[in-house]
Amino acid sequence: MDKKFYVTTPIYYPSGKFHIGTAYTTVLADTYKRLKQLQGYDTFMLTGTDEHGQKIQTVAEKNGKTPQEHVDEMAEQAKELWKQMDIHYDYFIRTTDPKHKEVVQKIFEFYLQKGDIYKGTYEGLYCMPCESYFTESQLVDGKCPDCGREVKLMKEEAYFFNMKKYADKLLQYYDEHPDFIYPEYRKTEMINNFIKPGLEDLCVTRTTFDWGIKVSSDPKHVIYVWLDALANYLTAVGYMTDNDELFKKYWSPDLQIIGKDIARFHLIYWPIFLMALDLPLPKTIFVHNWIMMKDGKMSKSKGNVVYPEKLIDRYGLDATRYFLLREMPLSQDGLYTPDSFIERYNSDLCNDLGNLVNRTVSMVNKYFDGIVPEYTGIINDVDKEFEEFAQSQLEKVVNLMEKYEMANAIQEIWALISRTNKYIDETRPWELAKNEEIEKLKSSMYHLIENIRKIGIILLPIMESTSKNLLRQIGIPEELQTWDSLKPYDKLKNIKVIEKGEPLFLRKNVEEELEYLRS
Ligand code: ME8
Ligand code: MG
Repeated sequence: MDKKFYVTTPIYYPSGKFHIGTAYTTVLADTYKRLKQLQGYDTFMLTGTDEHGQKIQTVAEKNGKTPQEHVDEMAEQAKELWKQMDIHYDYFIRTTDPKHKEVVQKIFEFYLQKGDIYKGTYEGLYCMPCESYFTESQLVDGKCPDCGREVKLMKEEAYFFNMKKYADKLLQYYDEHPDFIYPEYRKTEMINNFIKPGLEDLCVTRTTFDWGIKVSSDPKHVIYVWLDALANYLTAVGYMTDNDELFKKYWSPDLQIIGKDIARFHLIYWPIFLMALDLPLPKTIFVHNWIMMKDGKMSKSKGNVVYPEKLIDRYGLDATRYFLLREMPLSQDGLYTPDSFIERYNSDLCNDLGNLVNRTVSMVNKYFDGIVPEYTGIINDVDKEFEEFAQSQLEKVVNLMEKYEMANAIQEIWALISRTNKYIDETRPWELAKNEEIEKLKSSMYHLIENIRKIGIILLPIMESTSKNLLRQIGIPEELQTWDSLKPYDKLKNIKVIEKGEPLFLRKNVEEELEYLRS
């Protein structure tokens, strides 16, 4: 059987333009899709928009539009941005798609018949922006525990999902599937904050507004936006339809990427919804942190939002992707500042990576007319140590990527880049040339090109056009650009670098860029 890889992003609320925090999830998912594709997997990446609910209805009204007009425009805007960011998604789901709506209604009726959904009354504290009810004890300082805003007391006749019934089963599942939640401390949070204190049944319908999917057997009720939204991962691949080949092929998701603010929905309700349908659960749900500004979380109301276009237009897509992926550690939030952005650009991309390629291309031209010498085996300790370091470093990088530690993986790629720069200083090719130590000079050039080739390959999922440019400049044929070719060390034959290196990134003036980035 083919190896398959189904990766999802959350579906985004189309309430305004997407900022770099929102874009992060999608860039990360896209990076994994590309990685797995390079590794020979049959991949499927899903993204889309979460178009129902009171919040969207309110935003549309404010803009003087019907909700449908509003979401139509916004979905186009989202697709436009993903195109600009070269996101290789396979399907874009909109929760207003008729197919999605029909299947959500079927799922709801299925739960109702089964007794997992029952009718009752709801009275509770509601956070409108989060579309969530909370109990008194869940509030933080009397405010919404997720977003920190005011909550309001509301009462309505409503349907409930019997979460209690599944609580033990969920704990058991967590226990038996250590890969299910990553990083693991998120699981502990769920258990301690929500499951151990007693999981409440979840209110899964609303009657206070009508922009949503109606319950087919009781149409004055609208299905709760989170049940509607979570089902997208199923409906997008054709679950419960006649056309369910994709579902059969790809279910269940291998990787679902979400931000920490929506952990509770994905780590508790989502697996329970799936258990109630008797479906296999996703293999891994990966929870990332937030991209923060100096003054806290990026948010429209604070006016501290950075849009990806601002970075892409001036520094290119690859520098933008690089920054986002590099600056998000596993255990804490990532920080964006104009200073750190420009520092990464000049120092990591121009100096470390760009100069390495440039210097090497010009040396191969100068000493060997552009023809890369063939591998002559390890000829001294310097080469031996370097070759061993490079090979183990590459393994380390791939391992970190597989463990979803992308920022650490990138850090280790840069450790390899620095080590490769250091190898130039160690071997001092200009002296080898002067002293006519040709064997050593050949070996030095071979090792440099070979490592740059591998750096190019490992960067492909992260910044494709830079990697391709780099591999083209050092003359690497297609068959030596594959993931499999990361292993062998001695395969370069008849390789010719380009005559004059072209800078991968152009160095920028810090003061000018800070002015641009701060405006
Ligand atoms: O939550 N840094 O949609 P959404 C990092 N519709 N990630 C951030 C971020 C930041 N500053 N701000 C937002 C929703 N995100 C629901 C999802 S899925 C069935 C329904 C991330 O548009 C956030 O964590 O509010 C989430 O993963 C994604 O952007 C979409 O957020
Ligand atoms: Mg949100």
